[in-house]
Amino acid sequence: MSKVTIENLGKRFGVDPRSTPALQDVNLTIGDNEFVTLVGASGCGKSTLLRILAGLETHTAGRVVCAGHAIEGPGADRAMVFQHYSLYPWLSVIDNIKFSRKLQVNRENLSSADVEAASGRADALLDLIGLSKVASAYPNQLSGGMQQRVAIARALMGRPAMLLMDEPFGALDAQTREVMHDLILHIHRIEKTTIVFVTHDVEEAIYLGQRVVLMQPRPGRIHSIYPVPLPAARQQDMKHCVEFRELKNEILARIRESAGMTTDHELLEKLNLASEAT
Ligand SMILES: Nc1ncnc2c1ncn2[C@@H]1O[C@H](COP(=O)(O)OP(=O)(O)OP(=O)(O)O)[C@@H](O)[C@H]1O
Ligand SMILES: [Mg+2]
Repeated sequence: MSKVTIENLGKRFGVDPRSTPALQDVNLTIGDNEFVTLVGASGCGKSTLLRILAGLETHTAGRVVCAGHAIEGPGADRAMVFQHYSLYPWLSVIDNIKFSRKLQVNRENLSSADVEAASGRADALLDLIGLSKVASAYPNQLSGGMQQRVAIARALMGRPAMLLMDEPFGALDAQTREVMHDLILHIHRIEKTTIVFVTHDVEEAIYLGQRVVLMQPRPGRIHSIYPVPLPAARQQDMKHCVEFRELKNEILARIRESAGMTTDHELLEKLNLASEAT
């Protein structure tokens, strides 16, 4: 059974007659343990779609089914990582990772054995993200990349079936991003979560995704879905192969087209014509 089925999904913000359609007729099936990336021009509804999957936003048409159940709100089976580091500044790294679990333990009145198991999981996650040495440091003592690694570990703490990531590496420098790419692929292999990852960076989308879903704006909908023709075990030098470059150029061209954007070359020609006319 596939993990997520999105059927004729629609979302309008506001009240008729002034409501604006953010998503219209979105259909997508995401397999168990799949890594799907979403790209598209600004405003095409990527974040809205992700927030609906997270249960943080309602939809106004269609339905979303996750592991056989309609999504109607947030759930422990889904966790989200945002672009901006959202760690609790007053908690150490390890306590940030344990935080949601502690809440759950308090709520559910679980035994001390459960708490210990949670502690073991937090340590294992810390190890997985390579930050065991800074377990007792505070967020403001960490670099952006390290903070984002902690945010990922915290999201994974409750063993979510689905990890939803909204431009999680958007604020990081190019070198740190590359490290994070290989880390998230490693996490995907080890944790076997389904990942839906939104990005503006087409190269990032191809390197990480098994499929790249290209969305288009006004109203937000799926333009095309591209299976990525690369071996599952990704290596940075694959970015230079012909298949990678061709897919990147194709997707970039479709984004420009769907957003009504022109290329720099076309823009320059227009400017030249305008200046000739004056
Ligand atoms: N809370 C809201 N109220 C009204 N309109 C909204 C709201 N959130 C999003 N929208 C509109 O819905 C559309 C899709 O927005 P969304 O943020 O999902 O796009 P996006 O693809 O994530 O864009 P970006 O790449 O800039 O992050 C946009 O037209 C946006 O203005
Ligand atoms: Mg967005």
